[in-house]
Amino acid sequence: MDRAQSDLSLGFGSSHALPLPPPRIPIADDFDGPRSRRRALVDKDEDFEEDDDDQREDFILLGHPMKLKRSRPSSSTSSPTPPCKRSAIDSSLEARRSLVKAWGNQPLSEADPDLHELMQKEKQRQFRGIELIASENFVCRAVMEALGSHLTNKYSEGMPGARYYTGNQHIDQIETLCQERALQAFGLRHDQWGVNVQPYSCTSANFAVFAGLLSPGERIMGLDSPSGGHMSHGYYTPGGKKVSGASIFFESFPYKVDPRTGYIDYEKLEEKALDYRPKILICGGSSYPRDWEFPRFRFIADKCGAVLMFDMAQISGLVAAKEAPNPFEYCDIVTSTTHKSLRGPRGGIIFYRRGFKAKKQSINLNHCESNAQYDFEEKINFSVFPSLQGGPHNNHIAALAIALKQAASPEYKVYMRQVKKNAKALASALISRKCKLVTGGTDNHLLLWDLTPLGLTGKVYEKVCEMCHITVNKVAIFSENGVISPGGVRIGSPAMTSRGCLEQDFETMAEFLYRAAQIASAALREHGKLQKEPLKSIYHCKDIADLRNQVEGFASKFAMPGI
Ligand SMILES: Cc1ncc(COP(=O)(O)O)c(C=O)c1O
Repeated sequence: MDRAQSDLSLGFGSSHALPLPPPRIPIADDFDGPRSRRRALVDKDEDFEEDDDDQREDFILLGHPMKLKRSRPSSSTSSPTPPCKRSAIDSSLEARRSLVKAWGNQPLSEADPDLHELMQKEKQRQFRGIELIASENFVCRAVMEALGSHLTNKYSEGMPGARYYTGNQHIDQIETLCQERALQAFGLRHDQWGVNVQPYSCTSANFAVFAGLLSPGERIMGLDSPSGGHMSHGYYTPGGKKVSGASIFFESFPYKVDPRTGYIDYEKLEEKALDYRPKILICGGSSYPRDWEFPRFRFIADKCGAVLMFDMAQISGLVAAKEAPNPFEYCDIVTSTTHKSLRGPRGGIIFYRRGFKAKKQSINLNHCESNAQYDFEEKINFSVFPSLQGGPHNNHIAALAIALKQAASPEYKVYMRQVKKNAKALASALISRKCKLVTGGTDNHLLLWDLTPLGLTGKVYEKVCEMCHITVNKVAIFSENGVISPGGVRIGSPAMTSRGCLEQDFETMAEFLYRAAQIASAALREHGKLQKEPLKSIYHCKDIADLRNQVEGFASKFAMPGI
């Protein structure tokens, strides 16, 4: 079905209009049977109290002024309740009321000591360890406050000004503020770009774009997962298994990096795209340490008539701080997570072009010279809700608004610049120890360490690092003849930079990482191919314990934001 032609209009076309909500098909939680009955009972009580004043009698019991209500002889067949019984009923009502309310204000430690203890342990793990997973970060206290707030209580299906439920006047303002800040953080004009801040994650944001713009089975093309792409761009395993919703419901065909250089092979990409003719060409990935060449992507997308989409999940912070090439000049749609380098709450976001189309493509798209208009807005908004999601997570949207305000600040620019400097310092320190990095270094916040010359797999190395309280994650590595091996790890600088680490601290971390590799290689030599059990047995070995102590001592010197 062409969703955009559906007669169910949610006012997506103009987010500030206030159309009447459409009639709604009842869903389970709308069923009003018991509620109507309850309301009828309450109404009945209220009626009784209103016209019952002349039936009251004042008296004093044990020094306390009391009122006695006499039942109307005609309204009930039951006998009047004696005063002592009534006071017992009152106190049992109060007892019931306080029982019903008892859960409301307990701190977590009292309400659920088991969960509280687990959360405390996780806090300690985060504080005492070195976090080098490129996708992770630490949010600030303000973001945590918004996340853990009463905003989670409100249902607000729809868009600002066009919700299914009432009572959304403040939520509308929060979401509108968040949208405005999103445009501001990335320097976008309201007449050229729209934004949807409701996706629960970037995987859902990406899927919402595909589902909104394509029919099932239509073609997309993204960077292959082993080349550093993300599964949500449509991934099949080498055995042909469809892994993500994008590959299950759409047809996908990937482009790859050049195994000799680790850079995207643009020539092959062009050739493949012209043969395959995807409807959406996707740039962006999870493990690509170099800048994206947007003019080249635009050129190829135009040549094969594709919409150009960039998933900037990894580098959105760099883009906001103008520390990476600007995708908005060349792309039609830009998606992102909000919790990686952007340093906001966990979620997704979609930017889409609106207004008039540029006449000549392959050039900066901000110059409009034609009468044709983009039609992404209604399709994408409809796809997010109602096609794929339900009520927006308002606590998340508020927290995102805070993060986006920060992302537009001069301090955030300093932070992102430091993220890059730190990644470079880490890369240089590893290279000086003769470690091999894919592409020989990094342009952004992450680097890929090829462990194959050390005879290690990423899986073994990440386990050994975990034992030493360092978190990194395994990635695939291409050999020069194109064979893929699970021989690398991805290392990122945003999280430890948020804890205040500078270049020299990253040099220290490089030494820890190198030491962990030496320990892993030695253990491998000693135990042969490391399987689960031998790995377990080295947990208590002196080298691991020493390194773990050093790591914990080092990390504990840096405060953890937000707590
Ligand atoms: C490029 C890219 N897109 C999408 C995602 C998925 O994000 P989410 O976990 O919010 O679905 C990731 C996560 O690492 C990513 O790196």
